Amino acid sequence: MCSVVLRLVGLSSRRLRLLPDGIQVSLASKSGRFLSTDSSSTIENDSSKVEEAETMNTPPPPSEKILVLGGNGFVGSHVCQEALANGLSVCSISRSGRSSLKESWANNIIWHEGDLLLPESWKDVLNGVTSVISCVGGFGSNSHMYKINGTANINAVKAASEKGIKRFVYISASDFGFVNYMLKGYYEGKRATEKELFSNFPYGGVAFRPGFIHGTRKVGNMNIPLSLIGSPLEMVLQHAKPLSRVPIVGPLLAPPVHVKSVAKVAVRAATDQVFPPGIIDVYGIKRFSNN
Ligand SMILES: NC(=O)c1ccc[n+]([C@@H]2O[C@H](COP(=O)([O-])OP(=O)(O)OC[C@H]3O[C@@H](n4cnc5c(N)ncnc54)[C@H](OP(=O)(O)O)[C@@H]3O)[C@@H](O)[C@H]2O)c1
Repeated sequence: MCSVVLRLVGLSSRRLRLLPDGIQVSLASKSGRFLSTDSSSTIENDSSKVEEAETMNTPPPPSEKILVLGGNGFVGSHVCQEALANGLSVCSISRSGRSSLKESWANNIIWHEGDLLLPESWKDVLNGVTSVISCVGGFGSNSHMYKINGTANINAVKAASEKGIKRFVYISASDFGFVNYMLKGYYEGKRATEKELFSNFPYGGVAFRPGFIHGTRKVGNMNIPLSLIGSPLEMVLQHAKPLSRVPIVGPLLAPPVHVKSVAKVAVRAATDQVFPPGIIDVYGIKRFSNN
């Protein structure tokens, strides 16, 4: 006899009678106990079936493997923790490799040393990876900023696309009006990466454009509580969206966002196949993080 175990809740007994002869169906009730259509066995009392149900409830080993670029940085380390909390397998690439943080979660990450500007040094790390989140970026001279926010990330986008990876999330940055001119290399690099991202990942490319990201930044043994400034500003500015359209100063009024919100939505964007591709501004990040 063919025994089909279906974990269906709420299937009516009338529908069960329409199943072909010889097919035995065990159903899970809303309470998690199993119900059976097999007349030779008493309903709910077959201990072997209960065991089978318990086996099915065991969570499967992680089938998704996320690669966090810059997993030892401020945003990257929160993304790593969020991905672990979601039961995913997580690896990271950065030039210095393992995070200097002495926290237990760091033991569950596979740390790789690699420079995104030298693709040959890390291409093999992409094997088996199902999605990528890039938290690599930084400041310096204009040419350095273009390299790290642009070239390095463009290399990663191209390599991930060549490997057939389906989803790529990039932590970009919002426009800051006239500040863009002072940080030309930074913004040109960000926009160049976004362009490459959307051409290589039209259905699975997501670029976040936050303003100031706050939380506790850990540098060595020091905790820098960025939320002391970020939280009150976030409270005040979250309702000031119309002001963001005011020329020159408007872009400076983008509300800060907590690093945990960025991490939560980034992991969702990397794993949820129906998460919309494209640019997500700070208001979008907040909206998704509240859902
Ligand atoms: N923090 C904010 O308020 C804010 C606001 C808007 C946007 N963003 C963007 O968010 C992203 C993350 O920011 P963050 O504050 O977390 O920066 P962060 O703490 O400085 O982290 C940057 C990470 O990039 C890695 N990295 C730098 N160059 C690399 C290279 N060539 N190859 C491989 N890894 C490299 C660094 O590790 P190694 O040094 O070990 O290589 C580090 O892990 C950046 O793109 C930033 O522009 C941040």
